Amino acid sequence: MKKEQLMELLNSMSLKEKVFQLVQIPGQYFLSGIADTGTKTDNSLTGEELALIGSTLGIYGLETTAEIQKRHMEEHPHHIPLLFMHDVVHGLRTAFPIPLALGAAFSPDLVKMCTSAAADESAASGLHVTFAPMLDLVRDPRWGRVMESFGEDPFLNAMLGRASVEGFRGGNGETPEKWRVASCIKHFAAYGAAEAGRDYTGADMSSRILRECYLPAYIEGVRAGADMVMSSFNAIDGVPATGNEKLLKETLRDAWNFDGVLISDWDSVGELVKRGVCSDLREAARLALNCGIDIDMCSFAYARHLEALVREGEVAKEQVDRAAFRVLELKNRLGLFEDPFRGATSTVERKKILSTANRALARKAVCECSVLLKNAGEQPLLPLASESKVAFTGPYVESKELHSAWAVSTDPEDTVSIREAAEELALSQGRSFIFAEGCTMTCREDLGPKSEERMVKYYREDTIPMQSVTTDVNMLKEAVAAAENADTVVVCLGEHRLMSGEGASRGELTLPKQQLELLKSLHSANKNIVSVIFTGRPLDLREVCELSRSVLLVWMPGTEGGNGILDLLIGAAEPGGRLSMSFPYCVGQVPVYYNHFNTGRPKPKNTKVPYYVSAYIDIPNSPLFPFGYGLSYTSFSVSGIKLSAEKTALQDSGSFGEIKAFASVKNTGLRRGQTLIQLYVSRPFAEALAPVKELKAFRKLALDPGEEKMIEFTIGNEELGHMGSDGKMHVVKGEYRIAIGLDSETEEWISLKIV
Ligand code: BGC
Repeated sequence: MKKEQLMELLNSMSLKEKVFQLVQIPGQYFLSGIADTGTKTDNSLTGEELALIGSTLGIYGLETTAEIQKRHMEEHPHHIPLLFMHDVVHGLRTAFPIPLALGAAFSPDLVKMCTSAAADESAASGLHVTFAPMLDLVRDPRWGRVMESFGEDPFLNAMLGRASVEGFRGGNGETPEKWRVASCIKHFAAYGAAEAGRDYTGADMSSRILRECYLPAYIEGVRAGADMVMSSFNAIDGVPATGNEKLLKETLRDAWNFDGVLISDWDSVGELVKRGVCSDLREAARLALNCGIDIDMCSFAYARHLEALVREGEVAKEQVDRAAFRVLELKNRLGLFEDPFRGATSTVERKKILSTANRALARKAVCECSVLLKNAGEQPLLPLASESKVAFTGPYVESKELHSAWAVSTDPEDTVSIREAAEELALSQGRSFIFAEGCTMTCREDLGPKSEERMVKYYREDTIPMQSVTTDVNMLKEAVAAAENADTVVVCLGEHRLMSGEGASRGELTLPKQQLELLKSLHSANKNIVSVIFTGRPLDLREVCELSRSVLLVWMPGTEGGNGILDLLIGAAEPGGRLSMSFPYCVGQVPVYYNHFNTGRPKPKNTKVPYYVSAYIDIPNSPLFPFGYGLSYTSFSVSGIKLSAEKTALQDSGSFGEIKAFASVKNTGLRRGQTLIQLYVSRPFAEALAPVKELKAFRKLALDPGEEKMIEFTIGNEELGHMGSDGKMHVVKGEYRIAIGLDSETEEWISLKIV
């Protein structure tokens, strides 16, 4: 439809019809017809109102969406199609590894391919918008939603945020426009900074940190053309984001020129009342719309009060017109006025869902995202020797729930478990494998003292399978016997998938107790232990590392988890991941992240810790595994770092041109392998503190054994600049330091003077 026609449509609509384009309700209203119960509570709708609704969420599957769409268009006075939105966070039916895992692949291409495949499946099943990517920077693994983020680095988050937006749009260039879905960047802004890692709390911070660390990924997502932005639950500067004029109007709309659809988070308009910034729902509707929130997700504030607010002159009619027009424009961009079903048929849907190509991509992604944390010894256990007799143990051996709490449209029946993949391999390669779970996923003891009481009060007993006794002796005995009879024990441990995700904050970051008990018992029977760790967040893995010769982190790997992990274990692929979020030494350290500020009292290196320095007296300052860390099946060295010039002049334009940085990278091991070379910059002291280091570039390099290559990076204004309070990038005069290495703790710094 042409813009003029769209405008004509808007002009022909009544105020009520426009208002209801701004109302989003859960899918159940369309599925169960609860709208017609007739009870007039704030959350009930009449049949007439239901027919006017602009968008819904949580419904997928072409049969259902098409039927609802058809009915809706017949009933709507102007036959305006409904928008179907859903949280497609890491795939629809084919679950790819979680976003935090994709962050570890350091690969915009991989992110683009996975989001593009997810868009393909989603569009075929009748969806139009995904509430993704979540571009919240994260530093605190207690927060359950770190699994939805790309990690702790502003530069990487921005790059992968762009890749996601492009991917959902069908970014590989092969996906026709109709198989795109609109993306919705969330949660604007700084939701990832939840205080003490507890969901839905405050996220207060300085405007400098907000600007330099948290905003860059959202900005990049907007620049990449995201169709929607979602406001967050938290407050910034004491003002909840959904009613924060400075954030939504001055920053998002005016400074960044975002003209797409701005949606609230679920009931976050209603929460303006609960948080005490609005006296009632009517006031909340007024504030949210005036701040630029176009769609009210599920609070019913707009449905109940917006019409009256306009009629009584408290909200300008033009505000409603503008918001409704944005919603109509989105429907138009998606082609819904021409074809409300966008060419999807049940045949197309069947072909696209869980296609061979999507499964192959998911399997490859598992390999690229998994991080080898430890592989010790002269003869490391991984990859497994083909003749070795392997016992597979742990609760994740049989589990088909390898996706996160967010993969709500995934069917575990489609998932390949470790046991299934291993059995297939045993058949095709004649390998010798034994299986014994050893324990279930969680137990009451995980909750510590007074567990009975706490479980009733706080735990999700109804959803997370829980063993009521500490250890099932028979299960344990069977696993220990298997370990005694094996050369190598692969123990598959981790958090249950519902232990991370929304509303799943944790105060402890260790594995469930009985899993650690299992590990200890296996270790007494056989020292050749490979631990495979499933998780949605960084964990305290000290004990796991002490008791294992090798540790492979596989996150929540998704539908092809079993196959991908077996590829890694036998060395058909190598773990390509490097941590995009630090793994703490223990929970007392968090938030712990590599790009923290410097201190006036640094801890002296290699000496006993004196008092009155910035250090703990009982634990190290450094995380157990730092940002950027990950091993290969071979080893690499980086040496001979040099610059094309050690000194350069800053021009009046604020630019210094370009400098090249070089380093020599060598494969010092016995296998061909790939590694990630990372370039960090440390800024000179200027008017305010700077992070001790910042990732500014990275590159993957594959080398044969003994092969050595020179790698080159270009350093320009983007790499050295930082965002000033004027929102512009600045390079300052002084001594910058540059490091090139294999993780963020690299010590190889050289100096670059800007004069
Ligand atoms: C979450 C959002 C999500 C929305 C819709 C909210 O509770 O915070 O991330 O997109 O629900 O499911």
